[in-house]
Amino acid sequence: MGVTMDVLVSLCKRRGFIFPSSEIYGGLSSAWDYGPMGVELKKRIQEFWWREMTQLHDNIVGLDAAIMMHPRVWEASGHVENFTDPLVDCKKCKNRFRTDQIPEENMKSHKCPECGGELTDARRFNLMFKTHMGPLEDEGSLIYLRPETAQGIYVNFKNVLQTGRVKIPFGIAQVGKAFRNEITTKNFIFRTCEFEQMEMQYFVHPSEDEKWFEHWKEKRFQYYLDLGVRKNKLRFHQHGPGELAHYAKKAFDIEYEFPFGWSELEGIHNRTDYDLKRHTEYSGKDLAYLDEVSKERYIPYIIETSAGLTRTTLVVLADAYDEEEVQGEKRVVLHFHPRVAPITVGVFPLVKKDGLAELAGNLEEELREEFRTFYDEGGAIGRRYRRQDEVGTPFCITVDYQTKEDGTVTVRFRDSMEQIRIPKTEISSSLRKAIKDYRRKE
Ligand code: GAP
Repeated sequence: MGVTMDVLVSLCKRRGFIFPSSEIYGGLSSAWDYGPMGVELKKRIQEFWWREMTQLHDNIVGLDAAIMMHPRVWEASGHVENFTDPLVDCKKCKNRFRTDQIPEENMKSHKCPECGGELTDARRFNLMFKTHMGPLEDEGSLIYLRPETAQGIYVNFKNVLQTGRVKIPFGIAQVGKAFRNEITTKNFIFRTCEFEQMEMQYFVHPSEDEKWFEHWKEKRFQYYLDLGVRKNKLRFHQHGPGELAHYAKKAFDIEYEFPFGWSELEGIHNRTDYDLKRHTEYSGKDLAYLDEVSKERYIPYIIETSAGLTRTTLVVLADAYDEEEVQGEKRVVLHFHPRVAPITVGVFPLVKKDGLAELAGNLEEELREEFRTFYDEGGAIGRRYRRQDEVGTPFCITVDYQTKEDGTVTVRFRDSMEQIRIPKTEISSSLRKAIKDYRRKE
Protein backbone atom coordinates (compact mmCIF):
# COMPACT_ATOMS: atom_id res chain seq x y z
CA MET A 1 0.00 0.00 0.00
CA GLY A 2 0.98 3.63 -0.44
CA VAL A 3 2.37 5.64 2.44
CA THR A 4 1.27 9.07 3.63
CA MET A 5 3.83 11.75 4.39
CA ASP A 6 2.79 11.80 8.05
CA VAL A 7 3.46 8.09 8.43
CA LEU A 8 6.82 8.43 6.69
CA VAL A 9 7.93 11.44 8.74
CA SER A 10 7.00 9.63 11.91
CA LEU A 11 8.80 6.41 10.93
CA CYS A 12 11.89 8.42 9.98
CA LYS A 13 11.95 10.08 13.37
CA ARG A 14 11.21 6.89 15.33
CA ARG A 15 13.81 4.75 13.61
CA GLY A 16 16.59 7.35 13.38
CA PHE A 17 16.46 8.22 9.69
CA ILE A 18 15.63 11.91 9.76
CA PHE A 19 15.07 14.42 12.57
CA PRO A 20 13.86 18.03 12.48
CA SER A 21 16.87 20.35 12.61
CA SER A 22 17.65 22.02 15.98
CA GLU A 23 14.64 20.27 17.44
CA ILE A 24 15.42 21.13 21.06
CA TYR A 25 14.99 24.80 20.07
CA GLY A 26 11.66 24.18 18.36
CA GLY A 27 13.14 23.23 14.99
CA LEU A 28 14.04 25.29 11.94
CA SER A 29 11.42 25.21 9.26
CA SER A 30 12.35 22.97 6.35
CA ALA A 31 15.76 21.96 7.68
CA TRP A 32 16.38 18.32 8.54
CA ASP A 33 19.14 16.25 10.10
CA TYR A 34 20.02 12.73 8.99
CA GLY A 35 20.26 10.31 11.90
CA PRO A 36 22.22 7.05 12.18
CA MET A 37 20.00 5.21 9.66
CA GLY A 38 19.42 8.19 7.38
CA VAL A 39 23.08 9.05 6.98
CA GLU A 40 23.85 5.46 5.95
CA LEU A 41 20.97 5.40 3.49
CA LYS A 42 21.93 8.74 1.92
CA LYS A 43 25.61 7.77 1.73
CA ARG A 44 24.77 4.51 0.00
CA ILE A 45 22.48 6.21 -2.52
CA GLN A 46 25.32 8.60 -3.24
CA GLU A 47 27.74 5.68 -3.66
CA PHE A 48 25.26 3.91 -5.93
CA TRP A 49 25.05 7.02 -8.11
CA TRP A 50 28.82 7.57 -8.10
CA ARG A 51 29.45 4.00 -9.19
CA GLU A 52 26.85 4.21 -11.98
CA MET A 53 28.02 7.61 -13.17
CA THR A 54 31.83 7.35 -12.85
CA GLN A 55 33.22 3.89 -12.10
CA LEU A 56 31.22 2.16 -14.83
CA HIS A 57 32.44 4.60 -17.51
CA ASP A 58 35.90 5.16 -18.91
CA ASN A 59 35.13 8.76 -19.90
CA ILE A 60 33.47 10.27 -16.83
CA VAL A 61 35.63 11.76 -14.09
CA GLY A 62 34.76 13.20 -10.70
CA LEU A 63 35.13 16.62 -9.12
CA ASP A 64 34.46 18.25 -5.76
CA ALA A 65 34.29 22.03 -6.16
CA ALA A 66 33.88 24.62 -3.40
CA ILE A 67 30.42 25.75 -2.41
CA MET A 68 31.55 29.37 -2.31
CA MET A 69 32.60 30.67 -5.70
CA HIS A 70 33.63 33.97 -7.26
CA PRO A 71 30.48 36.14 -7.47
CA ARG A 72 31.04 36.73 -11.19
CA VAL A 73 30.26 33.04 -11.72
CA TRP A 74 26.61 33.75 -10.90
CA GLU A 75 26.46 36.78 -13.15
CA ALA A 76 27.87 34.70 -16.01
CA SER A 77 25.56 31.76 -15.30
CA GLY A 78 22.51 34.05 -15.44
CA HIS A 79 21.48 33.26 -11.87
CA VAL A 80 21.80 36.85 -10.60
CA GLU A 81 19.43 37.98 -13.32
CA ASN A 82 17.14 35.01 -13.85
CA PHE A 83 17.08 32.74 -10.83
CA THR A 84 13.97 34.32 -9.39
CA ASP A 85 10.44 33.46 -8.27
CA PRO A 86 7.54 35.92 -8.66
CA LEU A 87 6.21 36.78 -5.20
CA VAL A 88 3.44 38.73 -3.54
CA ASP A 89 3.18 39.75 0.12
CA CYS A 90 0.06 40.17 2.21
CA LYS A 91 0.08 43.65 3.79
CA LYS A 92 -2.08 42.38 6.68
CA CYS A 93 -0.84 38.93 7.76
CA LYS A 94 2.64 39.42 6.19
CA ASN A 95 2.55 36.00 4.55
CA ARG A 96 4.52 35.66 1.33
CA PHE A 97 3.32 33.58 -1.64
CA ARG A 98 4.64 32.46 -5.00
CA THR A 99 2.21 33.84 -7.57
CA ASP A 100 1.95 30.48 -9.32
CA GLN A 101 0.87 28.84 -6.08
CA ILE A 102 -2.16 30.94 -5.18
CA PRO A 103 -5.57 30.79 -6.88
CA GLU A 104 -6.02 33.01 -9.92
CA GLU A 105 -9.00 34.85 -8.40
CA ASN A 106 -6.78 35.97 -5.50
CA MET A 107 -4.23 37.32 -7.97
CA LYS A 108 -7.03 39.18 -9.81
CA SER A 109 -8.69 40.59 -6.68
CA HIS A 110 -5.34 41.23 -4.88
CA LYS A 111 -6.81 39.39 -1.87
CA CYS A 112 -4.70 37.20 0.43
CA PRO A 113 -5.79 33.52 0.28
CA GLU A 114 -5.11 33.19 4.02
CA CYS A 115 -6.69 36.28 5.62
CA GLY A 116 -8.32 38.26 2.79
CA GLY A 117 -5.91 41.18 3.34
CA GLU A 118 -4.51 43.24 0.46
CA LEU A 119 -1.72 41.70 -1.62
CA THR A 120 1.21 43.73 -2.95
CA ASP A 121 2.05 43.75 -6.67
CA ALA A 122 4.14 40.78 -7.79
CA ARG A 123 7.90 41.25 -7.71
CA ARG A 124 10.84 39.01 -8.53
CA PHE A 125 12.70 37.48 -5.62
CA ASN A 126 16.15 35.97 -6.18
CA LEU A 127 16.54 32.51 -4.67
CA MET A 128 20.27 32.67 -4.01
CA PHE A 129 21.48 32.94 -0.43
CA LYS A 130 23.86 35.84 0.01
CA THR A 131 26.66 36.13 2.51
CA HIS A 132 29.91 38.06 2.92
CA MET A 133 33.44 36.78 2.83
CA GLY A 134 35.88 38.63 5.08
CA PRO A 135 35.39 41.18 7.85
CA LEU A 136 33.47 43.82 5.87
CA GLU A 137 29.83 43.37 5.00
CA ASP A 138 29.77 45.50 1.87
CA GLU A 139 29.12 45.00 -1.84
CA GLY A 140 32.75 44.10 -2.45
CA SER A 141 32.63 41.09 -0.13
CA LEU A 142 29.26 39.77 -1.33
CA ILE A 143 29.23 36.11 -2.30
CA TYR A 144 26.53 33.50 -2.83
CA LEU A 145 26.01 29.95 -1.62
CA ARG A 146 25.82 27.94 -4.83
CA PRO A 147 22.26 27.21 -5.97
CA GLU A 148 23.45 24.33 -8.20
CA THR A 149 26.66 22.28 -8.25
CA ALA A 150 26.89 22.49 -12.05
CA GLN A 151 28.80 25.79 -12.21
CA GLY A 152 31.71 24.32 -10.23
CA ILE A 153 32.09 21.86 -13.10
CA TYR A 154 31.92 24.47 -15.88
CA VAL A 155 34.57 26.73 -14.34
CA ASN A 156 36.87 23.69 -14.04
CA PHE A 157 36.27 22.52 -17.60
CA LYS A 158 39.74 23.61 -18.77
CA ASN A 159 41.47 22.23 -15.67
CA VAL A 160 39.95 18.81 -16.18
CA LEU A 161 40.66 18.90 -19.90
CA GLN A 162 44.31 19.70 -19.31
CA THR A 163 44.86 17.17 -16.54
CA GLY A 164 42.24 14.46 -16.97
CA ARG A 165 43.34 12.98 -20.34
CA VAL A 166 39.74 13.22 -21.53
CA LYS A 167 38.40 13.70 -25.05
CA ILE A 168 34.96 14.74 -26.18
CA PRO A 169 32.52 13.18 -25.52
CA PHE A 170 33.29 13.04 -21.81
CA GLY A 171 31.61 13.79 -18.51
CA ILE A 172 32.39 15.37 -15.15
CA ALA A 173 30.39 14.20 -12.14
CA GLN A 174 29.91 15.87 -8.80
CA VAL A 175 27.89 15.43 -5.61
CA GLY A 176 27.46 18.25 -3.15
CA LYS A 177 25.34 20.72 -1.26
CA ALA A 178 23.32 23.42 -2.93
CA PHE A 179 21.25 26.19 -1.38
CA ARG A 180 18.08 27.95 -2.47
CA ASN A 181 16.01 30.41 -0.48
CA GLU A 182 12.82 28.56 -1.35
CA ILE A 183 9.62 30.32 -0.35
CA THR A 184 7.50 27.22 -0.27
CA THR A 185 9.30 24.52 1.64
CA LYS A 186 7.03 21.68 2.51
CA ASN A 187 6.68 17.95 2.13
CA PHE A 188 9.52 16.98 4.44
CA ILE A 189 12.87 16.71 2.59
CA PHE A 190 11.28 17.14 -0.87
CA ARG A 191 12.04 20.85 -1.13
CA THR A 192 14.42 22.39 1.36
CA CYS A 193 16.68 25.42 1.39
CA GLU A 194 19.78 23.28 1.92
CA PHE A 195 19.93 20.10 -0.14
CA GLU A 196 22.31 17.87 -2.05
CA GLN A 197 22.60 17.33 -5.77
CA MET A 198 24.24 14.62 -7.85
CA GLU A 199 25.04 16.16 -11.22
CA MET A 200 26.88 14.97 -14.29
CA GLN A 201 27.76 17.31 -17.13
CA TYR A 202 28.47 15.56 -20.42
CA PHE A 203 30.44 17.59 -22.97
CA VAL A 204 29.59 16.76 -26.59
CA HIS A 205 30.07 18.02 -30.14
CA PRO A 206 27.16 20.41 -30.95
CA SER A 207 26.06 18.21 -33.84
CA GLU A 208 25.57 15.27 -31.46
CA ASP A 209 23.52 16.94 -28.74
CA GLU A 210 20.23 15.25 -29.63
CA LYS A 211 21.81 11.81 -29.70
CA TRP A 212 23.46 12.19 -26.29
CA PHE A 213 20.36 13.79 -24.81
CA GLU A 214 18.33 10.71 -25.72
CA HIS A 215 21.11 8.44 -24.47
CA TRP A 216 21.23 10.03 -21.02
CA LYS A 217 17.48 10.36 -20.75
CA GLU A 218 17.08 6.59 -21.15
CA LYS A 219 20.10 5.76 -18.97
CA ARG A 220 18.87 7.88 -16.13
CA PHE A 221 15.40 6.31 -16.17
CA GLN A 222 16.95 2.84 -16.05
CA TYR A 223 19.11 3.97 -13.12
CA TYR A 224 16.04 4.37 -10.90
CA LEU A 225 14.80 0.92 -11.83
CA ASP A 226 18.23 -0.49 -10.93
CA LEU A 227 17.99 1.35 -7.63
CA GLY A 228 14.83 -0.65 -6.97
CA VAL A 229 12.22 2.06 -7.57
CA ARG A 230 8.97 0.65 -9.00
CA LYS A 231 8.47 1.39 -12.69
CA ASN A 232 4.80 2.38 -12.40
CA LYS A 233 5.82 5.17 -10.02
CA LEU A 234 8.15 6.82 -12.55
CA ARG A 235 7.44 8.83 -15.68
CA PHE A 236 8.94 11.49 -17.93
CA HIS A 237 7.67 15.02 -18.18
CA GLN A 238 8.90 17.24 -21.00
CA HIS A 239 9.29 20.93 -20.23
CA GLY A 240 7.08 23.19 -22.33
CA PRO A 241 8.43 26.55 -23.59
CA GLY A 242 7.16 28.33 -20.45
CA GLU A 243 8.92 25.90 -18.11
CA LEU A 244 12.39 25.77 -19.64
CA ALA A 245 15.20 27.15 -17.46
CA HIS A 246 17.06 30.13 -18.87
CA TYR A 247 19.93 27.90 -20.03
CA ALA A 248 17.98 25.01 -21.54
CA LYS A 249 17.11 24.19 -25.14
CA LYS A 250 15.32 20.98 -24.19
CA ALA A 251 14.54 19.41 -20.82
CA PHE A 252 12.84 16.31 -19.46
CA ASP A 253 12.11 15.64 -15.84
CA ILE A 254 11.97 12.17 -14.41
CA GLU A 255 8.99 12.36 -12.11
CA TYR A 256 8.03 10.14 -9.20
CA GLU A 257 4.55 9.67 -7.77
CA PHE A 258 5.17 10.97 -4.26
CA PRO A 259 2.47 10.56 -1.57
CA PHE A 260 1.43 14.15 -2.46
CA GLY A 261 1.38 13.55 -6.24
CA TRP A 262 3.68 13.44 -9.27
CA SER A 263 6.73 15.67 -8.96
CA GLU A 264 10.23 16.14 -10.30
CA LEU A 265 13.00 13.87 -9.13
CA GLU A 266 15.69 14.58 -11.71
CA GLY A 267 16.15 16.92 -14.66
CA ILE A 268 17.92 16.04 -17.91
CA HIS A 269 18.81 19.24 -19.73
CA ASN A 270 20.36 20.20 -23.02
CA ARG A 271 22.21 23.33 -21.84
CA THR A 272 23.76 23.90 -25.28
CA ASP A 273 26.94 26.00 -25.23
CA TYR A 274 25.21 28.59 -23.02
CA ASP A 275 27.32 28.11 -19.88
CA LEU A 276 30.75 27.75 -21.43
CA LYS A 277 30.09 30.69 -23.78
CA ARG A 278 28.99 32.89 -20.92
CA HIS A 279 32.01 31.92 -18.80
CA THR A 280 34.27 32.65 -21.77
CA GLU A 281 32.68 36.07 -22.07
CA TYR A 282 32.71 36.95 -18.36
CA SER A 283 36.14 35.51 -17.47
CA GLY A 284 37.92 36.46 -20.67
CA LYS A 285 39.40 32.92 -20.77
CA ASP A 286 39.17 30.77 -23.85
CA LEU A 287 37.05 27.72 -23.02
CA ALA A 288 36.95 26.29 -26.54
CA TYR A 289 37.85 22.67 -27.20
CA LEU A 290 40.36 21.67 -29.86
CA ASP A 291 39.72 18.36 -31.58
CA GLU A 292 43.23 17.07 -32.16
CA VAL A 293 42.21 14.84 -35.06
CA SER A 294 39.94 17.14 -37.09
CA LYS A 295 41.63 20.35 -35.78
CA GLU A 296 38.16 21.80 -35.26
CA ARG A 297 37.84 24.35 -32.44
CA TYR A 298 34.44 24.69 -30.83
CA ILE A 299 32.55 25.31 -27.61
CA PRO A 300 31.03 21.96 -26.64
CA TYR A 301 27.36 21.48 -25.87
CA ILE A 302 26.47 20.18 -22.43
CA ILE A 303 23.95 17.48 -21.63
CA GLU A 304 23.25 17.65 -17.92
CA THR A 305 21.77 15.00 -15.65
CA SER A 306 20.78 16.65 -12.38
CA ALA A 307 19.35 14.59 -9.54
CA GLY A 308 18.62 15.58 -5.97
CA LEU A 309 20.36 13.30 -3.48
CA THR A 310 18.12 14.30 -0.61
CA ARG A 311 15.07 14.07 -2.87
CA THR A 312 16.16 10.61 -4.06
CA THR A 313 16.42 9.61 -0.41
CA LEU A 314 12.75 10.58 0.00
CA VAL A 315 11.85 8.57 -3.10
CA VAL A 316 13.73 5.52 -1.86
CA LEU A 317 12.03 5.75 1.53
CA ALA A 318 8.52 6.33 0.15
CA ASP A 319 8.88 3.66 -2.49
CA ALA A 320 10.25 1.09 -0.05
CA TYR A 321 7.50 1.51 2.53
CA ASP A 322 5.01 -1.30 2.86
CA GLU A 323 2.57 -2.53 5.48
CA GLU A 324 1.16 -6.02 5.55
CA GLU A 325 -0.61 -8.33 7.92
CA VAL A 326 1.38 -11.29 9.16
CA GLN A 327 -0.20 -13.74 11.61
CA GLY A 328 -2.74 -11.16 12.70
CA GLU A 329 -0.13 -8.44 13.29
CA LYS A 330 0.88 -5.44 11.24
CA ARG A 331 4.33 -5.76 9.67
CA VAL A 332 5.97 -2.50 8.54
CA VAL A 333 8.73 -3.21 6.10
CA LEU A 334 11.07 -1.08 4.00
CA HIS A 335 11.97 -2.90 0.79
CA PHE A 336 15.30 -1.13 0.22
CA HIS A 337 17.59 -2.50 -2.43
CA PRO A 338 20.30 -4.32 -0.41
CA ARG A 339 22.94 -2.07 -1.97
CA VAL A 340 21.45 1.01 -0.31
CA ALA A 341 19.99 -0.46 2.88
CA PRO A 342 21.55 1.17 5.98
CA ILE A 343 22.14 -2.28 7.48
CA THR A 344 22.81 -5.20 5.15
CA VAL A 345 22.74 -8.02 7.65
CA GLY A 346 21.45 -8.42 11.20
CA VAL A 347 23.07 -11.13 13.31
CA PHE A 348 21.26 -12.62 16.30
CA PRO A 349 21.81 -15.41 18.81
CA LEU A 350 18.56 -17.33 19.36
CA VAL A 351 19.17 -16.95 23.09
CA LYS A 352 21.98 -15.23 25.01
CA LYS A 353 23.05 -18.27 27.04
CA ASP A 354 25.01 -21.44 26.31
CA GLY A 355 27.68 -19.64 24.29
CA LEU A 356 25.29 -18.61 21.48
CA ALA A 357 25.84 -14.88 22.13
CA GLU A 358 29.63 -15.33 21.77
CA LEU A 359 29.21 -17.36 18.60
CA ALA A 360 26.88 -14.79 17.05
CA GLY A 361 29.11 -11.91 18.21
CA ASN A 362 32.16 -13.44 16.57
CA LEU A 363 30.23 -14.06 13.38
CA GLU A 364 29.02 -10.46 13.29
CA GLU A 365 32.60 -9.22 13.71
CA GLU A 366 33.76 -11.38 10.82
CA LEU A 367 30.98 -10.14 8.55
CA ARG A 368 31.70 -6.49 9.40
CA GLU A 369 34.74 -6.58 7.14
CA GLU A 370 32.50 -6.88 4.11
CA PHE A 371 28.96 -5.95 5.07
CA ARG A 372 27.21 -3.34 7.13
CA THR A 373 26.12 -5.43 10.12
CA PHE A 374 24.04 -5.05 13.25
CA TYR A 375 24.12 -7.32 16.32
CA ASP A 376 20.98 -7.70 18.41
CA GLU A 377 20.37 -10.09 21.29
CA GLY A 378 17.38 -8.34 22.93
CA GLY A 379 13.84 -9.74 22.94
CA ALA A 380 12.03 -12.51 21.13
CA ILE A 381 13.52 -13.44 17.78
CA GLY A 382 10.29 -12.47 15.95
CA ARG A 383 10.50 -8.94 17.44
CA ARG A 384 14.13 -8.65 16.36
CA TYR A 385 13.15 -9.56 12.80
CA ARG A 386 10.37 -6.95 12.84
CA ARG A 387 12.74 -4.25 14.08
CA GLN A 388 15.07 -4.97 11.17
CA ASP A 389 12.13 -5.05 8.71
CA GLU A 390 11.24 -1.53 9.80
CA VAL A 391 14.70 -0.19 8.92
CA GLY A 392 14.86 -2.22 5.73
CA THR A 393 17.56 -4.79 6.61
CA PRO A 394 17.38 -7.33 3.77
CA PHE A 395 19.02 -10.31 5.54
CA CYS A 396 19.10 -11.60 9.11
CA ILE A 397 21.21 -14.46 10.41
CA THR A 398 20.30 -16.44 13.50
CA VAL A 399 22.76 -18.56 15.42
CA ASP A 400 21.10 -21.39 17.41
CA TYR A 401 21.92 -24.70 19.09
CA GLN A 402 22.29 -26.49 15.78
CA THR A 403 25.03 -24.00 14.85
CA LYS A 404 27.10 -25.43 17.71
CA GLU A 405 26.64 -28.93 16.37
CA ASP A 406 27.05 -28.57 12.61
CA GLY A 407 28.17 -24.98 11.95
CA THR A 408 25.01 -24.00 10.06
CA VAL A 409 22.94 -20.82 10.59
CA THR A 410 19.49 -19.61 9.55
CA VAL A 411 19.33 -16.86 6.94
CA ARG A 412 16.03 -15.00 6.88
CA PHE A 413 15.06 -12.87 3.87
CA ARG A 414 13.20 -9.62 4.59
CA ASP A 415 10.88 -9.50 1.57
CA SER A 416 9.64 -13.10 1.51
CA MET A 417 10.35 -13.87 5.19
CA GLU A 418 11.66 -17.18 3.86
CA GLN A 419 14.29 -18.88 6.02
CA ILE A 420 17.03 -21.21 4.82
CA ARG A 421 19.85 -23.05 6.57
CA ILE A 422 23.37 -22.72 5.26
CA PRO A 423 26.88 -23.46 6.57
CA LYS A 424 28.60 -20.47 8.20
CA THR A 425 31.36 -20.73 5.65
CA GLU A 426 28.92 -19.95 2.83
CA ILE A 427 27.35 -16.84 4.34
CA SER A 428 29.52 -14.28 2.54
CA SER A 429 29.18 -15.81 -0.90
CA SER A 430 25.40 -16.35 -0.45
CA LEU A 431 24.87 -12.75 0.63
CA ARG A 432 27.01 -11.45 -2.22
CA LYS A 433 24.91 -13.39 -4.70
CA ALA A 434 21.62 -12.35 -3.09
CA ILE A 435 22.66 -8.69 -3.27
CA LYS A 436 23.68 -8.98 -6.92
CA ASP A 437 20.51 -10.85 -7.95
CA TYR A 438 18.10 -8.76 -5.88
CA ARG A 439 14.86 -7.79 -7.64
CA ARG A 440 11.91 -6.41 -5.79
CA LYS A 441 8.62 -8.12 -6.55
CA GLU A 442 6.19 -5.73 -8.31
N1 GAP B 1 21.82 22.17 -12.49
C1 GAP B 1 20.46 22.07 -12.86
C2 GAP B 1 19.55 22.17 -11.73
O1 GAP B 1 19.93 22.52 -10.63
P1 GAP B 1 17.05 21.85 -11.06
O2 GAP B 1 15.91 21.21 -11.84
O3 GAP B 1 16.82 23.22 -10.52
O4 GAP B 1 18.28 21.81 -12.06
C3 GAP B 1 17.85 19.57 -10.13
O5 GAP B 1 17.46 20.89 -9.88
C4 GAP B 1 17.38 18.63 -9.04
O6 GAP B 1 17.81 19.11 -7.77
C5 GAP B 1 15.86 18.53 -8.92
O7 GAP B 1 15.33 17.59 -9.83
C6 GAP B 1 15.69 18.08 -7.49
O8 GAP B 1 15.88 16.68 -7.39
C7 GAP B 1 16.85 18.78 -6.79
N2 GAP B 1 16.38 20.02 -6.13
C8 GAP B 1 16.22 21.24 -6.67
N3 GAP B 1 15.79 22.13 -5.76
C9 GAP B 1 15.66 21.44 -4.60
C10 GAP B 1 15.26 21.80 -3.28
N4 GAP B 1 14.94 23.04 -2.94
N5 GAP B 1 15.26 20.84 -2.32
C11 GAP B 1 15.61 19.56 -2.62
N6 GAP B 1 16.01 19.17 -3.85
C12 GAP B 1 16.04 20.09 -4.84
